[in-house]
Amino acid sequence: MGTSHRNKREKRKASPEKKIRGNQDEKKVRNMETRHFIWIGFLVIAAVIVMWTYCVAENDQSRNLDELLKYYNVTHSLSKIDRRSKLSLQEYMDVYDAKFPVLITDVVPLWPAFNWTKDFFLKNYGGVKVTVKTVEGDLSKAESLALPISMFIQKSHSGSFQTWTYLEDEMFITQRPELLNDIGKVAYLEEDYFELFPAEIKPWNAMLLWGSVYSRSPLHIDPYNWTGTNAVLMGTKRWKMYPPGQDDYLYVINDQKSGFPLDCYKYNSPIDAYDVNLDKYPKFQKTKWLEFDQYAGELLLIPTGWFHQAFNVEETMAISSQVMNTNNYKIVLEEILKAGNFDDINLPIDYASLLPEKQVETLMSVLPGKILEKGRQVTESVLNQLKYDELYQQQG
Ligand SMILES: *[C@@H]1O[C@H](CO)[C@@H](O)[C@H](O)[C@H]1NC(C)=O
Ligand SMILES: *[C@@H]1O[C@H](CO)[C@@H](O)[C@H](O)[C@H]1NC(C)=O
Ligand SMILES: *[C@@H]1O[C@H](CO)[C@@H](O)[C@H](O)[C@H]1NC(C)=O
Repeated sequence: MGTSHRNKREKRKASPEKKIRGNQDEKKVRNMETRHFIWIGFLVIAAVIVMWTYCVAENDQSRNLDELLKYYNVTHSLSKIDRRSKLSLQEYMDVYDAKFPVLITDVVPLWPAFNWTKDFFLKNYGGVKVTVKTVEGDLSKAESLALPISMFIQKSHSGSFQTWTYLEDEMFITQRPELLNDIGKVAYLEEDYFELFPAEIKPWNAMLLWGSVYSRSPLHIDPYNWTGTNAVLMGTKRWKMYPPGQDDYLYVINDQKSGFPLDCYKYNSPIDAYDVNLDKYPKFQKTKWLEFDQYAGELLLIPTGWFHQAFNVEETMAISSQVMNTNNYKIVLEEILKAGNFDDINLPIDYASLLPEKQVETLMSVLPGKILEKGRQVTESVLNQLKYDELYQQQG
């Protein structure tokens, strides 16, 4: 008992010391808390500054665009598409490119390709096999076939909402210089950093799109979020185009990749905007879109970031292409990096500060060999297929 008392007394005696130490501990804790507060305060201030700068930059951009729109007397409105002729390159880059869709009316009629007809293809290329999509039922049940053009033409003049055919071929024109030569140059598309890509992975730049009435594309964003082009040679195409920032309302399918040698994410909506199931996709009602018809001789320029779906109102022939330029290269590069093509590669420290073309060149110079090899194999196998088809054409 005594000992325990003494202990207690000792303990009590010891307590002032402890108190001092305790005070010191408390001080330490308080100091640490103060430091925490300072850190948190610092972080909050930094975050505010970053957000503020970002907002100012954003505002600057939209103020700039507003000023430019005023300067050119152009309005961007989802209730109409601008049809423009004699549009200067500067005005195009300032107010349309990567910002808002526009129809150019005075370019395609100058192309010899504007004179292409069904008979022309039947007579000269009837036996050539092309890639054709056929649909019976809903859009998700599309099947892809290789058919001789003559067989496609037998089906191309008719279709119904549920049953249609769509020739979508990337190689047919690009492998035939005589056809490629029929497509004129377009000033708005001259700047194209895809030209800096090695041939093995450079996107084909003249896809033939020839569809029966009711044929349609999926609702999608183009690969690498590029700026798309579409020139209608014959027929009428109806478009629904959705300004950026509506992924959620469009139920964009996540984590899909294109499977291209230089891979990228594939942004597709499961919705057919011309046949929407609102019970399944109720948020789709909140979307805002631009809808218009594109007639033969008109060139549509599709800004990066806009989901779009094309619908052929009658039998329609068109050529599509794409560009990567000053206004979209950051987005395209981000999409290419995001897809994991360069995971094991260290980019130079000054990469982000390089001029756009240098950035593209730098990235291309460190392309993993396996990507080029895969690109080579894909091209080779398609070309072999074409050679086989030409043989078939000669014999037939
Ligand atoms: C601006 O465009 C509107 C219609 O788009 C037109 O009525 C007006 O005259 C134009 N103003 C100038 C200064 O060109
Ligand atoms: C299209 O064909 C017509 C008639 O043969 C010809 O006069 C015209 O120059 C052609 N257009 C182009 C752009 O080649
Ligand atoms: C590309 O488009 C998709 C779909 O809208 C979007 O989620 C993504 O952020 C875009 N990429 C860039 C780099 O802006």
